[in-house]
Amino acid sequence: MQINEVLSKASVIPVLEVAALKDAAPLALALAAGGLEVIELTLRTACALEALEAMKIAAPSLIVGMGTIRSAGDIEQSTAAGADFLVSPGASTSLLGALAGAGVPALAGVATASEAMTAFEAGFAAMKFFPAEPAGGIAYLKSLAGPLPDVVFCPTGGITAEKAPAYLALPNVACVGGSWIATRAMIAQSNWDEIEANAKMAASLK
Ligand code: 3PG
Repeated sequence: MQINEVLSKASVIPVLEVAALKDAAPLALALAAGGLEVIELTLRTACALEALEAMKIAAPSLIVGMGTIRSAGDIEQSTAAGADFLVSPGASTSLLGALAGAGVPALAGVATASEAMTAFEAGFAAMKFFPAEPAGGIAYLKSLAGPLPDVVFCPTGGITAEKAPAYLALPNVACVGGSWIATRAMIAQSNWDEIEANAKMAASLK
């Protein structure tokens, strides 16, 4: 799979934090039932690797990426667990090299024109723009479209259901990421119906 294939299946990628392994399967089922095809699990809880495996078993049709990738070790563990793609919040030169050689597609994290140019030189034409709202949001992405016409972004960070459509209307935005579809609180409270409803709403955005 190439990154463009992943991005073509998603307008909204839910960014998920699973703290308890038992929540992984019902969460995956709720997101899939809502019509989402691509999700990002963050590598920032003790059970994240096992949760990724559990989500893929529960909902085999889902494309499950691992986010919060910060090191070559993170890449190794995540691909071994079956991650379909990788997402990093930012990218050092060595991490860009490791992501490029990971064997699965990746969205390297950038927040400035210089970082986007560095990632482009390393072979990435699709990037996570993070943290989207604090880093300049829609105005910043509009400014990048002229000088970097061959780069597409997945803005993430501070995006809500209300803000998502304006991002998705930008020509250099392939999709948006966000935790609003399934927040930590919703997951901890087993609010699967609410998560499914949010997923349905997110899946309807174009
Ligand atoms: C991430 O982990 O990629 C972001 O923190 C998600 O951002 P949000 O919680 O503001 O949607």
